Amino acid sequence: MDLVNRPIYHFAPLANWMNDPNGLIQWQGKYHLFYQHNPNGAYWDQMHWGHASSPDLVHWTHLPIALAPTQGGPDKDGCFSGCAINHNGAPTLVYTGTMPEVQCLATSSDGLLTWVKHPANPVIPTPPEGLQVTGFRDPCVWREGDAWLMALGSGFQDVGGAILLYRSTDLVAWKYLGPLCVGDKAETGHIWECPNFFPLGDKHVLIISPVPLKKAIYFVGSYRDHRFAPELSGDVDAGGHLYAPQVFEDMRGRRILFGWLWEGRSKESQKEAGWAGVMSLPRVLSLNADGSLCCAPAPALQTLRGESSHVQDATARTDSEARLEMQGDALELDVTIQPGDAMLCGLKVRCSPDGAEQTLIGYDRAQGCLFIDRSRSSLSESANHEIYRSAFILQDGEPLRWRVFLDHSVIEVFANDRACLTSRIYPTRADSLGIALFAQGGEARLETLDTWQMHSMWA
Ligand code: FRU
Repeated sequence: MDLVNRPIYHFAPLANWMNDPNGLIQWQGKYHLFYQHNPNGAYWDQMHWGHASSPDLVHWTHLPIALAPTQGGPDKDGCFSGCAINHNGAPTLVYTGTMPEVQCLATSSDGLLTWVKHPANPVIPTPPEGLQVTGFRDPCVWREGDAWLMALGSGFQDVGGAILLYRSTDLVAWKYLGPLCVGDKAETGHIWECPNFFPLGDKHVLIISPVPLKKAIYFVGSYRDHRFAPELSGDVDAGGHLYAPQVFEDMRGRRILFGWLWEGRSKESQKEAGWAGVMSLPRVLSLNADGSLCCAPAPALQTLRGESSHVQDATARTDSEARLEMQGDALELDVTIQPGDAMLCGLKVRCSPDGAEQTLIGYDRAQGCLFIDRSRSSLSESANHEIYRSAFILQDGEPLRWRVFLDHSVIEVFANDRACLTSRIYPTRADSLGIALFAQGGEARLETLDTWQMHSMWA
């Protein structure tokens, strides 16, 4: 396996392919993370559920594969995404079997290690009669009153993505209640995958991964009579690499999100590397005063912090960037920048001394956006060089306040409590480690920058 660019504090299987997080649950104190996994190679095929557990959301231990397709069974072609619940004390996975897409159950009686598929599988064998659906998968199940409710990812032919709502008291017999929410194909695609539906503050939040938008979207709104009415929406992450996130409630009542970070390099180079797909950092969700979704890195990540350094009062202007002393490829940066009169400003990271490789995390005043510019991130042809932008306006006098997590091929940016941009980069040079403040069209000032070298979570 090729370890170049492999993250050290983002979760990934030991080898081979990973996509969506599944079955997130805290059970008897321990966090459990399952994930879509192909144990036979670094490409998508024959989905299994990989499994890991953690005492703190940050340090993970790999466990044996939890679910594998059963020959001749309703999941013969793959165990697709789903969730984990506590059903009267029995840990239960609710997932999609394929092909065709049907809903299945599995339970464990040895502390979530091995799983027995339910004899009644598939418990939902077909879509509701009379509906022409474009998809029928990824159950999200929660308790409501004396019953279980299930939101299922779907879409109505020629209409748009949709979430179907079901109800059951025993998880085996399910009644279709109608659509929880329906989208418009022209705006939010024709299938809504991987729904998450949960209360947050005094609102409800629906998170979906719409095909073919290649990003996750959230809606904040109200839930009444088994219908969800969105009031506002936004991108969960605008960096172009986070998809199919799953949210769960931990024992402290926090809503925590993990998302799949897909690769930004060619399929061939993924196969050659022997691994593909990593998990985002855990993000704690809340609502901002304006009702938008706020994602903050989980406080437990601070336990990974090692050697630190601090700088303040650096300035940069057009054609004169400020190279900073610290460098590295596994860092947390906590930075405050006053854009001053600069039209563009931000940080360069993973810079080679001659600038041949560099990645820009920036703010563009004229366009009103944040961006991650990968046009020079890698000298390799197989790396993705696309630039991602996210609409972003600073209030008068408001500085840029960013927490940036660099972890080899992963960059996660948390900006001013209201935007996240996560990207993937593949620098080729061992000396692409530098950091600089840059500005164009004026002068920007770095107020403070705290940097920590991050420890490996596997140590
Ligand atoms: C989202 C998704 C899900 C499906 C799974 C299969 O990435 O397409 O809808 O259950 O991946 O791996």
